[in-house]
Amino acid sequence: MKKLFSIFLLMVLALVIAACSSDSSSDGEDNTSDSNDTEEPTESEETTEGSDEEASGGTVEIFSWWTGAGEEDGLLALIDLFEQKHPGIAIDNAAVSGGAGTNAKAVLATRMQGDDPPSTFQVHGGAELNEGWVAADKMEPLNDFYEEQGLMDKFPQDLIDMVSKDGNIYSVPVNIHRGNVIFYNMQVFEENNIEVPTTMDEFFAVADKLQEAGITPLALGDKESWTSTQIFENILLGVLGTDDYQALFDGDIPFDDERVVEAAELFKKTLSYVNEDHASRNWQDASQLVGEGEAAMTNMGDWAKGYFSNDLDLATNEDFGYFPYPDTVGDFMVITDTFGLPKGVENPESVKEFLSVLGSVEGQDAFNPLKGSIPARVDADPEKYDQYGKDTMDDFNNGKLAASLAHGSAAAEGFVTKMNQAVNIFVTQLDVDNFIDTLKNASGEL
Ligand code: GAL
Repeated sequence: MKKLFSIFLLMVLALVIAACSSDSSSDGEDNTSDSNDTEEPTESEETTEGSDEEASGGTVEIFSWWTGAGEEDGLLALIDLFEQKHPGIAIDNAAVSGGAGTNAKAVLATRMQGDDPPSTFQVHGGAELNEGWVAADKMEPLNDFYEEQGLMDKFPQDLIDMVSKDGNIYSVPVNIHRGNVIFYNMQVFEENNIEVPTTMDEFFAVADKLQEAGITPLALGDKESWTSTQIFENILLGVLGTDDYQALFDGDIPFDDERVVEAAELFKKTLSYVNEDHASRNWQDASQLVGEGEAAMTNMGDWAKGYFSNDLDLATNEDFGYFPYPDTVGDFMVITDTFGLPKGVENPESVKEFLSVLGSVEGQDAFNPLKGSIPARVDADPEKYDQYGKDTMDDFNNGKLAASLAHGSAAAEGFVTKMNQAVNIFVTQLDVDNFIDTLKNASGEL
């Protein structure tokens, strides 16, 4: 009995010691701290006691449009990770709902104009960042931050270029999404004996077969018109190829070029295969039609992958499959979500701590497997990603890259807005001449 009692006492003692030591070393502060946290090595230890409120304390307000199904899981995981590492810095998740930033971008513009920037905000690399907020002198350069954090060779040069202007770097990419993907219901394809189409001709043949079988070929939810713009940009990419696709948005190819007219015709034909209620659905509602087998396919950026996996609980390559938008095999429509440091924020040091976590391997591998995107970093761990992620990493590394227009990278916001308006009208009127004229007039914005 005595012996048993002393063993028991020893165990209690061991537990008490273990608890104390994990408290004082504040394990939330991780193994990456050796390379990253040179400035405030003691912050985490002190703040776990609730006493620290110095240079990098306060609140970081993260502004994005990642709310709800298919959108927020990655962000919440990133915030969790940040809170473990920096318990002394509060996070204010100021997300405004609406796919592709439909509402968030308007709120952001008002705040930026009123000199009330969020601590950091979601912004697409490319024109949205560079021709928008950088050109308006609203962003701090992050060159020193990149150097300090050793980030210069951690992102593909193409991405660094997308977040740079005149030799300065202005934001940190958290991910790479792909826009030219079609997700499909595997059971519907199998039951109808359908092979994955690789060209637009094959796609239309497949769509006819599905329609005859009483299945909606292509699910669309264009309550917000960017989803249709996304289809059109993929068709443009297929017809023009990556170089001329960008040349169009650089103003070097006119919108009445016969290939643009051809793309508009293909777009019109594509729209004859979509669900009738497309105007009352958003992208999640449309993806759901595919999940349930009411529709066979949908074109959506691979945030839909996050939605299929996490929200609809569907299995990759069992329930849903994926293929590049027809005629764009070998091309990769890049959408990159990035975060920067606006001028005039209250806690720039704390914001940099957030950017540091977001730009770390650990941060990217917490965020991206849930978001459906691949990591922007070249040294992230592929094993954290399922087959979709692995295939997409390969396609990115071997593909020809194009910048999405619908997601703000290929041209400045003024033109994107006009394109969305033109597409919105086209989807109901299906008048190719009028569409081309409207785009030609809008190209003044380029
Ligand atoms: C994109 C954004 C993605 C995703 C999508 C749907 O613009 O880059 O991360 O959120 O909108 O809202």
